[in-house]
Amino acid sequence: MDRIRIVGGNKLNGTIPISGAKNAALPLMIAALLTDETLILDNVPRLADVAQLQRILGNHGVDIMSAGKRPGDHEYQGQTLHISAANIIDTTAPYELVSKMRASFWVIAPLVARMHEARVSLPGGCAIGTRPVDLLNMALEKLGAELSIDGGYVVVKAPGGLKGAEIDFPKVTVSGTHVAVMAATLAKGTTVITNAACEPEIVDVADCLNKMGAKISGAGTTRIVIEGVTKLHGARHTVLPDRIETGTYAMAVAMTGGDVLLAGARPELLQSALDVLVQAGATVTPNNEGIRIARNGAGIKSVDVATAPFPGFPTDLQAQLMALMTMAKGSSHITETIFENRFMHVQELARFGARIHLDGETATVDGIAKLRGAPVMATDLRASVSLVIAALAAEGETMVNRIYHLDRGFERLEEKLSACGAQIERISG
Ligand code: UD1
Repeated sequence: MDRIRIVGGNKLNGTIPISGAKNAALPLMIAALLTDETLILDNVPRLADVAQLQRILGNHGVDIMSAGKRPGDHEYQGQTLHISAANIIDTTAPYELVSKMRASFWVIAPLVARMHEARVSLPGGCAIGTRPVDLLNMALEKLGAELSIDGGYVVVKAPGGLKGAEIDFPKVTVSGTHVAVMAATLAKGTTVITNAACEPEIVDVADCLNKMGAKISGAGTTRIVIEGVTKLHGARHTVLPDRIETGTYAMAVAMTGGDVLLAGARPELLQSALDVLVQAGATVTPNNEGIRIARNGAGIKSVDVATAPFPGFPTDLQAQLMALMTMAKGSSHITETIFENRFMHVQELARFGARIHLDGETATVDGIAKLRGAPVMATDLRASVSLVIAALAAEGETMVNRIYHLDRGFERLEEKLSACGAQIERISG
């Protein structure tokens, strides 16, 4: 298994190109199941999760062509995928595939909307919490689907097709909102979703679906209205930039000091995180190329933050912020309100010498002047990258083991960081 070796202490200076958003690319690829015409997606990041979803869609009979680079393309430019679900040959998503990536459960929505049936394995456990799918199932039942659980699979049927309905989510859920929106595009009549998730990735998917002929309004607000149509058609769409990758590198620069342009980043996608970084002592300057982030001279200041659904501080940046706070002056409090068990990084950060005390859903971080490199590993994607951030500032060598998780969500991490002066390398095998 590959590892990453980091020798800390270098400031980051230069430019980091921001890739397309993983959390938009996955539902966009799944949305291709809604039409028998070709959906072309540009700026798709080259990630293990994208490759895994290609396999899962292939199992349903979807043809995916990945276009090569064109002359003049930047080496970091995302890939273009031509996705054609002309013939869906299988409406079952098997356990072996779904258990590897939770978001693949979402294929249930386009399959039942278009094929009127699906059999999708329950995704199973997850390192960051129980992550049930009850609200996704509730949304499909509201739309008239009949659901049963059989042998670990959700079996869903809608013999006469789905019907528009009112869906009120008792809790803000990104997955529930994606599933409800996708399924409602082909339902008969109007669907109104209330307490919908407002994340930018929901807006990106709705924009793409509208290009495909769907009639969705209100995406990005808590009330989304969908007028069902009988058929969707092909379209071409560019995946929006990854706000979590942006925030992660911004935290890394705040941690090491230096001055980096996050090229292609859009500040409105992560304003709450940028505000926190300014409080923590970083200088954040949006310009027409992206976002410049710098910390020169000033030390890191402690901040108190609670994660919240968009536009609040994202849970997917909580671990990275905690890494930054390990070297802040004073104590900071970080409260996780979205996932009940998302503190797997605490014990690993402690291996660098960090002082973190957990009390229920709040971590108190007492900043120290120096971290020391150590062998570490992590069990989820964002936790893994928090260890990279700590290692970049730590004295001496860190070996990050089990980097499989990093490859799921960060494109060419070591190349992007080493181009800015970090001493970081991948060790294969
Ligand atoms: C998505 C993101 C993930 C991010 C999360 C929150 C993708 C591929 N993943 O995950 O990176 O951390 O949003 O921003 O986009 N819940 C239920 N029942 C359900 C569904 C969810 O109780 O049926 C709960 C979850 O356990 C969690 C909360 O609702 O406590 C939010 O989950 P949700 O927004 O659905 O997260 P995901 O879509 O899984």
